[in-house]
Amino acid sequence: MNIAIDGPGGAGKSSISRAIAEDMNLIHVDTGAMYRAIGLYAIRHACLEEEQITEKLPEIAVTLRFIGGVQRVMLCEEDVTDYIRSPEVSLAASKVSAFPAVRAHLLDLQKKIASENDVIMDGRDIGSVVLPDADLKIFLTASPEERASRRYLELKEKPDCPAYEEVLADMIRRDENDRNRAIAPLCQAEDAVLVDSSEMGFHEVVTHIENLIKEKV
Ligand code: DC
Repeated sequence: MNIAIDGPGGAGKSSISRAIAEDMNLIHVDTGAMYRAIGLYAIRHACLEEEQITEKLPEIAVTLRFIGGVQRVMLCEEDVTDYIRSPEVSLAASKVSAFPAVRAHLLDLQKKIASENDVIMDGRDIGSVVLPDADLKIFLTASPEERASRRYLELKEKPDCPAYEEVLADMIRRDENDRNRAIAPLCQAEDAVLVDSSEMGFHEVVTHIENLIKEKV
């Protein structure tokens, strides 16, 4: 079974997909984490420009491990899962994800994981490019203000938490990058079901999508 969940940053795709995966015995694949791993590499090696990062791709091995169903992201054998959530890595991931060679580098791996497992895969282009034949496609969204305040609540617990206004500005900038890039832009696939979670609680969204899955599969 292949379920695709796309939508803008901060819509809750990952946490909602994780909960559904647990309830329905699926593997949750967070493809954003793969782009984040490449973004982290680009920061560490100061190669954020297209030509530089494209040249380095043969040595950038991104793989996923699933420990107790929970995804860990490996970058050249190093577990980088805990280093890829900062605002700096978010922007780097958004930048490198617009480069065609970077997308091609990750596409085969994403398709392979989905062909070998029952997955719920989240990202920006899962329904449109990675899994065009998915059993169910969801486009999960919420207003930018709502997404920024959710992200802010997560970051608030951490040291160096940016101000809410900064989180909102970052969110809008990333949305623009993701929607306007030439290749595999963020968009709702024609046959995707739109779920706007602005006015919905977490469990409400989970139950709603689980019901859609049960109806469809
Ligand atoms: O979902 P996220 O915020 O972790 O994603 C990080 C960046 O990666 C985001 O700016 C867009 C990009 N991305 C993408 O281009 N395609 C995907 N399938 C997943 C993420």
